Amino acid sequence: MELNNLILVTGGNGQLAKSMLDVYPKRELYLATKSELDVTDKNLVSKIISKIKPRKIFHFASLTRADDCARDPDLAYRINVEGTRNIVEVCKKFDIPLLFVSTNEVFDGKKKSAYIEKDKANPITIAGKTKFHAENIIKENLKKYFIIRTSWLYSKWSRNFLYVIFSKAKELKQIRIVKDEISSPTYSLDLAAAIKELLLSDEFGLYHLVNEGMASRLQLAKKAFALSDVDGINIIPISLKDFDRPSKPPLFSPLKNTKAREMGIVLPRWEDGLRRFLKENTL
Ligand SMILES: NC(=O)c1ccc[n+]([C@@H]2O[C@H](COP(=O)([O-])OP(=O)(O)OC[C@H]3O[C@@H](n4cnc5c(N)ncnc54)[C@H](OP(=O)(O)O)[C@@H]3O)[C@@H](O)[C@H]2O)c1
Repeated sequence: MELNNLILVTGGNGQLAKSMLDVYPKRELYLATKSELDVTDKNLVSKIISKIKPRKIFHFASLTRADDCARDPDLAYRINVEGTRNIVEVCKKFDIPLLFVSTNEVFDGKKKSAYIEKDKANPITIAGKTKFHAENIIKENLKKYFIIRTSWLYSKWSRNFLYVIFSKAKELKQIRIVKDEISSPTYSLDLAAAIKELLLSDEFGLYHLVNEGMASRLQLAKKAFALSDVDGINIIPISLKDFDRPSKPPLFSPLKNTKAREMGIVLPRWEDGLRRFLKENTL
């Protein structure tokens, strides 16, 4: 099959898909939303990819939120595992390079320093298990792949942790925020830029790509409020175990971008990403 100049992006309504429009010209991206390309529909996946003939596929479609995955593990499996398998089969058939985005939740949180690419995955959540399963399907079937693990993505296109705490701060004088869950908050536009840079090489493989550094939910919230001059809020630090949610994520899952850094790809620190996000958007 003769491939054209387009990059097909699955999950085209998602925040990372939209962020790619910040770094690639619109004419190079084909953002396929769930209504056009449901990745769980094997025949449809084959039909659409054969029609578009993309030179690359960014597979971002997923059941992303860990709580949604915990509430409906079968759906998480269908989208994250079977959906990825459907995409992989067509990539293999037509020799199309694939870029897949995975998660910090492939780790169990027992390490004491940030996780690097060589660390052994041991997912403890449904989100982590299904994404790790998808990673393995890719590794077993393709040579031309990038697996990018990232964490705590935010942008103006998602109702993320930052939106939640800012909207609570408008209504309440007091907010409970988890102090002992730690990871790498990452601005989706910074990730998009790093992905583009990485793709300039053909150094296929597994990469961690997050904003540099690590933060707890509490540190992230405090920094965001300070940068936005929000004060007068009584923040009550709580433990993750006391926060009632369907999924229990690993307590400690920051990532370190060792391989990208060796290639000269260095992302800004998380505080810097947050500062730009808050400057560009009103929460
Ligand atoms: N957000 C994070 O904190 C985070 C952290 C680590 C890794 N990641 C990974 O990074 C990638 C991008 O994340 P994101 O935050 O941009 O995710 P997102 O905003 O949730 O976007 C995912 C998109 O996939 C779509 N989708 C769901 N089921 C689908 C299906 N069966 N077929 C086709 N599309 C489907 C969703 O559509 P609907 O909304 O209409 O269902 C949504 O538009 C994902 O693979 C995610 O797992 C994200």
